[in-house]
Amino acid sequence: RPSPTVISSQGGLLDLDLEALSINTTLSGRQFRLLGYNDRIPGPVLQAKPGDTVRVRFTNRIGQPTNLHYHGLHVPPTGNADNVFLKIPSGETLTYEFTLPENHPAGLFWYHPHYHGYVADQVFGGLAGVFIVRGELDEIPEIKAATEHVLLLKDYDPDAGRIGSRARTGMMGAHMAQMRGREGAVVTVNGEIQPTFNLPAGGLLRLRLLNASSSRFYRLSLEEHPFYLIATDGGAIPEPVELRELLLSPGERAEVLVRGDREPGQYRLLNLPYDRGGMGMMGGMMGRGPRGGMMGRGPRGSANATETLATVTYHGQTDVLPLPKTLIPVETLPEPTQTRRFLLNHGMNPGRGMVFLINGRAFDHQRIDTTVGLNTVEEWELVNTGVMDHPFHLHTNHFQITSVNGTPPPYRAWKDTVLVPFGQSVRIRIPFRDFVGKTVYHCHILDHEDLGMMGMLAIQ
Ligand code: C2O
Ligand code: CU
Ligand code: CU
Repeated sequence: RPSPTVISSQGGLLDLDLEALSINTTLSGRQFRLLGYNDRIPGPVLQAKPGDTVRVRFTNRIGQPTNLHYHGLHVPPTGNADNVFLKIPSGETLTYEFTLPENHPAGLFWYHPHYHGYVADQVFGGLAGVFIVRGELDEIPEIKAATEHVLLLKDYDPDAGRIGSRARTGMMGAHMAQMRGREGAVVTVNGEIQPTFNLPAGGLLRLRLLNASSSRFYRLSLEEHPFYLIATDGGAIPEPVELRELLLSPGERAEVLVRGDREPGQYRLLNLPYDRGGMGMMGGMMGRGPRGGMMGRGPRGSANATETLATVTYHGQTDVLPLPKTLIPVETLPEPTQTRRFLLNHGMNPGRGMVFLINGRAFDHQRIDTTVGLNTVEEWELVNTGVMDHPFHLHTNHFQITSVNGTPPPYRAWKDTVLVPFGQSVRIRIPFRDFVGKTVYHCHILDHEDLGMMGMLAIQ
């Protein structure tokens, strides 16, 4: 089985050409017309170290404007760095260049398009790739001894790469699917259907998980095996946390260790049912709809049932490998100097149909919604007053969750995307560090982002 192409930095420089283009491929015996980077679905795995310079000569060949966003990297949001306000017309090339800070955390990040209004179409079309930063976490001996796999979780539709015919102009069913966030007919891991991951019996498996879907949620479990969580969006947590299952909303990442200590054999990595709300929107009945109810998950909806994503197989035998006792400390943030509230909901806009809103407003390129000071710490309360879940994502700076519905989380962790389930409220604490400029926060159900659920943040 071919593993995804990895492009690593050499002598402090990650230097590559990246081209976005349309791709024909076969999945499950069906022809798919998708979008890819460098002829691949998903794109190549990029790998760098703290302090490295990243230089990407990016060419757009998809027939509509696009750009690149480096999701979760703590780099400047301006110039030719992680600047989501850049527009690269089809046929043009732009060179991105930035340097990762020396103290950048090791972890699992990713890249995808971020040209507002086209993001959902292009990510749903297939554009996404992993960006790994290797560092301190990877040097822990127990983690070094583990068998490592990146699992980019993503669903596709056969015509998702035909971006000329945009779903929002289509029939009612497509329109409704977009309101809730589109989900594709097939689910893949690294662009493959139900791949197998091997490890020696007794060994440790390190699964680096990314939800790169535009709307699909993954409630993961591995038959008979607990997960030992070691890292979240922003890198390592202080010590492993045992979990029975793991929910990843769009944009979120997690790294887990799995012990190969059951009977040698095959175990399925499952995506269990999860109700993310919004089913009742079409019938006009608000609130939690029945799972698998009339509207299902859109016209193709099959995602209500448990899905098998991959298989883990034990081979041979090795010594039973220990789990690490501790990982990397996560700092305690000071009390915030400012608190703010963000209400997440949708509404109707005459002439535009449904819009998705933050504090009653849809995104506007001309408007700064929030201004913060460099070197301050703020606490934001995210309140979902709507009928479906919204994963809230902030660019440029990582944050820590301080409470979910008033309850502090069981462990400290760095995040850049946090699920705000409908009817709930989440508080996050954010240190604004190192970079000034305009950046954004938004819902990572990318149809919602394109339909307005994004705000502009100025750091000054
Ligand atoms: Cu992964 Cu603003 O996005
Ligand atoms: Cu991002
Ligand atoms: Cu949303």
